Amino acid sequence: MTVDPLIELRGVNKHFGELHVLRDIDLTVGRGEVVVVIGPSGSGKSTLCRTVNRLETVESGTILIDGTPLPAEGRALARLRAEVGMVFQSFNLFAHKTVLQNVSLAQVKVRGRKRDEADRRSRELLARVGLAAQADKYPAQLSGGQQQRVAIARALAMDPKALLFDEPTSALDPEMINEVLEVMRQLARDGMTMVVVTHEMGFARSAANRVVFMADGTVVEDRSPEEFFTAPRSERAKDFLSKILKH
Ligand SMILES: Nc1ncnc2c1ncn2[C@@H]1O[C@H](COP(=O)(O)OP(=O)(O)OP(=O)(O)O)[C@@H](O)[C@H]1O
Ligand SMILES: [Mg+2]
Repeated sequence: MTVDPLIELRGVNKHFGELHVLRDIDLTVGRGEVVVVIGPSGSGKSTLCRTVNRLETVESGTILIDGTPLPAEGRALARLRAEVGMVFQSFNLFAHKTVLQNVSLAQVKVRGRKRDEADRRSRELLARVGLAAQADKYPAQLSGGQQQRVAIARALAMDPKALLFDEPTSALDPEMINEVLEVMRQLARDGMTMVVVTHEMGFARSAANRVVFMADGTVVEDRSPEEFFTAPRSERAKDFLSKILKH
């Protein structure tokens, strides 16, 4: 079981108007763990991610990052956001800044690093995601897979305690998916704590410590990939897997 919790959600509830999108969510992610979140469209996966770094507020329940409750606002919230990085389906890079500037920007603004120190760190991270040669290009000059790897480098540049990925490969052409997943697998091997919403079942099987299956705003199953994929317990999960594995 989890010995050293890094992200904890306890009894978290959230509505959008009448719609109860997160229902009494209890979820613990241990330090160094990789948790893959899967489930049908609209089940609340993105909302779950967004509540963890407070892009969405919750109505009840507690969210702890490394033992500290999520701050409501202000400087403490900005610090928290820097500790839990997020990578989205759309890469959200600044189009008019170079790759290097994209990775360095928040290091200077949020972490208070000097420009040259930030740039040095950015080049290290770009090398780590296989983009050392692209530092001076603009996002539009890169492929989708390369842009997503820049977004990962940018998230890493904050020295986060954990990274959240919301369908990081869904916008990519098939031949680019693997280069992004390979970077994520390497991060997992290096011990990064990761929550990954994805439809890539191969990644879930090979890199996840746990699979969390959500449906209608609840966590229906939370088990090892081996157990989940070979013997899902719930009808919802069986149904979901039979659809997704046919493709
Ligand atoms: N800002 C919002 N305002 C109102 N409803 C929202 C908002 N964001 C999400 N929802 C609704 O909340 C539910 C959960 O959405 P969410 O995006 O978390 O699902 P998801 O599991 O990520 O789905 P998908 O697989 O399609 O990305 C959906 O019914 C969605 O329409
Ligand atoms: Mg989503």
